[in-house]
Amino acid sequence: MCGIVGIVGNKPVAERLVDALKRLEYRGYDSAGVATINAGRMDRRRAEGKLFNLEKRLSEEPLPGTTGIAHTRWATHGVPNETNAHPHFVEGVAVVHNGIIENFSELKDELIADGAIFNTQTDTEVVAHLLAKYRRDGLDNKAAMLAMLNRVTGAYALVVMYQDDPDTIMAARSGPPLAVGFGKGEMFLGSDAIALAPFTNEIAYLVDGDCAVIHHGGAEIMDFAGKPVERPHQISQASAFMVDKGNYRHFMQKEIYEQPEVIAHALSHYVDFSSYTVREDNDAIDFAKLRGLAVSACGTAYLSGLIGKYWFERYARLPVEIDVASEFRYREMPLSQDQAALFISQSGETADTLASLRYCKDAGLKIGAVVNVKESTIARESDAIFPILAGPEIGVASTKAFTCQLAVLAALAIRAGRARGHLSAADEKTMVRQLAEMPRIMSSVLNSLQTKVEALSRDLSKFKDVLYLGRGTSYPLALEGALKLKEISYIHAEGYAAGELKHGPIALIDENMPVIVIAPHDRFYEKTISNMQEVAARGGRIIFVTDVKGAAASKLPTMETIVLPNVPELISPMVFSLPIQLLAYHTAVFMGTDVDQPRNLAKSVTVE
Ligand code: G6P
Repeated sequence: MCGIVGIVGNKPVAERLVDALKRLEYRGYDSAGVATINAGRMDRRRAEGKLFNLEKRLSEEPLPGTTGIAHTRWATHGVPNETNAHPHFVEGVAVVHNGIIENFSELKDELIADGAIFNTQTDTEVVAHLLAKYRRDGLDNKAAMLAMLNRVTGAYALVVMYQDDPDTIMAARSGPPLAVGFGKGEMFLGSDAIALAPFTNEIAYLVDGDCAVIHHGGAEIMDFAGKPVERPHQISQASAFMVDKGNYRHFMQKEIYEQPEVIAHALSHYVDFSSYTVREDNDAIDFAKLRGLAVSACGTAYLSGLIGKYWFERYARLPVEIDVASEFRYREMPLSQDQAALFISQSGETADTLASLRYCKDAGLKIGAVVNVKESTIARESDAIFPILAGPEIGVASTKAFTCQLAVLAALAIRAGRARGHLSAADEKTMVRQLAEMPRIMSSVLNSLQTKVEALSRDLSKFKDVLYLGRGTSYPLALEGALKLKEISYIHAEGYAAGELKHGPIALIDENMPVIVIAPHDRFYEKTISNMQEVAARGGRIIFVTDVKGAAASKLPTMETIVLPNVPELISPMVFSLPIQLLAYHTAVFMGTDVDQPRNLAKSVTVE
């Protein structure tokens, strides 16, 4: 995680660096810092907490200078305080870092034995000390950088500035993303293209094992042995205006309300609304011939994959192996080349998901990526990219990316079902029509839910524990509901398959633990109602999330019933996501938490 940025400029940089950090704040926000070189002297300002603390520091004590680097931190080694905030300075070397230096402890011992004095608890400081040592040993700045890169191990994106060379910044990538931006007489480095969008849209992405030296006239890119390499320039689509809350109070709220529009946009990429067929323009994965599909992802993206599994297996009779990426990558599961692998990631940079992808690639599987960021590492390393086209998602808790991932997976499952002969042309038409109706239905649900959910959230915010139950595709939704609530409101929540209630969680049921039951009137409805009965019999308070038919068919007393329109089973996970998201959002607002940037979390998790 962490966001990093650097500018070799021809006008003052401090303000521009902070502006770029604002676009990277989704990556981490527990402290931030900026360093510049001015009149041969390197100086820095750092502050604990959110970026506005750093801005305040800079307004009191501005930092002149036309070359600088900056960082917004998500702490791994060392508490988030000003001392541990980047940039780290040692003897005229400044370093910002995203990732983990795995051998930092061994290097630190070695450097201390050599006389180095460490001021922070970070792993990053060893990089600055190593560079200082190599310079003392007589290496020039570039040679010191390459020597350092050959000593450190782990996952890192590094940006380095030297006080004695104000016209150059160096960078390296081994894991987390890093982009070089090309301006007019100015050069930029940033964790992503959105950070650099106000400065330039001409970008070259570094790949793992690249070291870059940028100066006013351009960039030299080389491997860690110093051998030059070429990286293609791309015109990034990222635009500065996109990161704007508009009239909404939080990005998460805006992103929830954007869903009908972005889903329509995403669907139009995958289905032909005039013939009600799924497009087949990406043939890198031949669903007809597959024996199985391995799916992996983290967090909310994993839960969309879990819903996808139900669809691929039901509609395409395609067996799906799915696991969270942190387990998948180490499970040593047997893979064969008649399987394909699908990785789902909003950011396209999640370290465990990327490692799982590489594991499958090494096993010779065709790789598909369901990603939001088309220029991301996961996208670039895949054979087939399935963009979810949700637009930038800034709120740390994923909402519109989740439902867009679902829309894409539904379209792919239909395509697989057709290719494998399990869905007829008529089935395809019916299902695509259902998808096509979804944006309109979602829009009316969003318009009708607000008041009721807000009132319910006020009650929910008084509880300490909440249980979510569901069956079929409502089970992953129960998991997502619990995840959403705990990550932004900090209320403890658990999701369970309704049928598992009797195998443990029923012991917890009392009037202090509301149970949110997600049960559209589908094939599972009666069975879920039996579980609801078991909750009611033990004095549990039920929040019933159902549809018109489901509400009419149940006589059980509830604390509240949220009634959605009757919708076809295929689209119910997307439609039922809306009350789940809004409930978490409004509860968090009542609790007064930082909705868009909840404590300890980060949007893009580029470390294991
Ligand atoms: C973090 C975010 C989640 C996200 C997960 C996977 O935990 O807070 O919202 O679902 O990472 O991220 P990805 O970018 O791979 O979808």
